[in-house]
Amino acid sequence: MLRGNIELWLATLTCILIGAGYGLVAFWTREIPAASEFFGHTLGIIGFILMLLTETLYSLRKRIRSASFGRMSTWLKFHIYMGLVGPFMVLLHSAWKFNGLAGATTLLTAIIVISGFIGRYIFTRIPRTMDGLEIEGTLSQEALKRARQLMSLWHAVHIPIGIALFISAFVHLGGALYYATFLK
Ligand code: HEM
Ligand code: HEM
Repeated sequence: MLRGNIELWLATLTCILIGAGYGLVAFWTREIPAASEFFGHTLGIIGFILMLLTETLYSLRKRIRSASFGRMSTWLKFHIYMGLVGPFMVLLHSAWKFNGLAGATTLLTAIIVISGFIGRYIFTRIPRTMDGLEIEGTLSQEALKRARQLMSLWHAVHIPIGIALFISAFVHLGGALYYATFLK
């Protein structure tokens, strides 16, 4: 489970393509795309939707017993792909200004991505079936116990960061839409 790095390569490729599109727009218009104008706004909205899907889909598949569509390993790869591409788009949306609440939301986004990489590292230490169930594998009992403890500690940190991130993102988008879009 999660062996190979296909999702990381695909995410890198997608980010390069989006980055190239961003570069072209910046070159064409001779300015950094503003967060409140069409291109920058679109990046923010699509990036945010991807982040919302990252936050919800994998957890739903994991928890709803009757939802057996697709392997857990595929859903986690999808989680990681969207969890990288979404934050990258949101970063481009920021127009490289990080004031106030929007800046704090960007910081929380960066923290959750870094935390994701740490989680991915611990996760891959635990032997699993393709459907994500842990198996008694090559690790000694002691090492397995330690990896499980680390993983639950990681969840205890990662999940509240995600919740804080989405609360501040919703306040930001409410405020930004009200002041920068509707009051224009
Ligand atoms: C997690 C998702 C998001 C993050 C991290 C984020 C981050 C940012 C940042 C850093 C800025 C620049 C603030 C500044 O001028 O210093 C900004 C501006 C803006 N964002 Fe977002 N954003 C997100 C999602 C969205 C969404 C979904 C929308 C719209 C539906 C949106 C609408 C705007 C608008 C309109 C501005 C311009 C505000 C202005 O010009 O005063 N953002 N955002
Ligand atoms: C927008 C960015 C992200 C958000 C909002 C997010 C959110 C979450 C949430 C809420 C969970 C808990 C799932 C559950 O147990 O129900 C989770 C688990 C996980 N995430 Fe992310 N994540 C993001 C990005 C990433 C990235 C970039 C990676 C890897 C590079 C990653 C790797 C993981 C791993 C390995 C797990 C543990 C899976 C498990 O224990 O079953 N995440 N993430």
